[in-house]
Amino acid sequence: MRTLIANFKMNLTPSETKDYLMAFLSRFDGSKIDLTLCLPYTSLGLGALLCKNRNVRLGAQNLSDEEQGKNTGEISGAMLKDSGVDYVIIGHSERRKKFKEDTKTINKKIKVALKNGLGVILCVGESLTERNTLKTFEVLREQIECALKGLYENELERVIIAYEPIWAIGSGKTPTKNEIEGAVKEIRHIIKDDFSENASISIKVVYGGSIDSKNIKQFLSAKKLDGFLVGGACLDPNEFLKISSLCS
Ligand code: PGA
Repeated sequence: MRTLIANFKMNLTPSETKDYLMAFLSRFDGSKIDLTLCLPYTSLGLGALLCKNRNVRLGAQNLSDEEQGKNTGEISGAMLKDSGVDYVIIGHSERRKKFKEDTKTINKKIKVALKNGLGVILCVGESLTERNTLKTFEVLREQIECALKGLYENELERVIIAYEPIWAIGSGKTPTKNEIEGAVKEIRHIIKDDFSENASISIKVVYGGSIDSKNIKQFLSAKKLDGFLVGGACLDPNEFLKISSLCS
């Protein structure tokens, strides 16, 4: 069964979320796909209510690296878990860049998420300069090793790695199928080096960056790829239904 993750980013008010989910869920078949909808915080309560018994997981897009207390404006792992959240996106390039999240913070956030019973969607990927200077594999190794430092192998069962080249996010550009396969192979290789062969086979790896219902077809047969993370194209329920059925 393929994994499909929707990252709604800072889109959809609670009322818009309601309209969206009514339109989407009434036509969505959850029996053939493992879907996680990463909604904004203010839509999570509604999402939990409407997605119940629908074979759809609920995701958040961030969490605090602290457990609780003096962190005005932050959201804790316990708050997310208690709101019905299953997964949380950590290390998205928009947060790494704009909110200056470094690898240490990302590692801390992953540990807090796992401790609170949440699954993690860890985003990794190279910039255009890094790609052009052939540093992609080096960047992937650094990002993954720092992010997963100190984790137990059994915790990887709750980690999904999303390969998201920064230059492909929201740009309409994608790597070739071969390039995605190469990155996925490298990611599994890193997991093998740091954990075990078993872990490298069983860890889920998805691709994200400008995926839509047209270009996804060429990537469906990519080797050892478990699924996709979709940003912009999930905002239209009809388009996202198309993507979901192509992945099923
Ligand atoms: P995109 O976003 O599909 O709009 O490129 C993907 C992401 O940022 O996760």
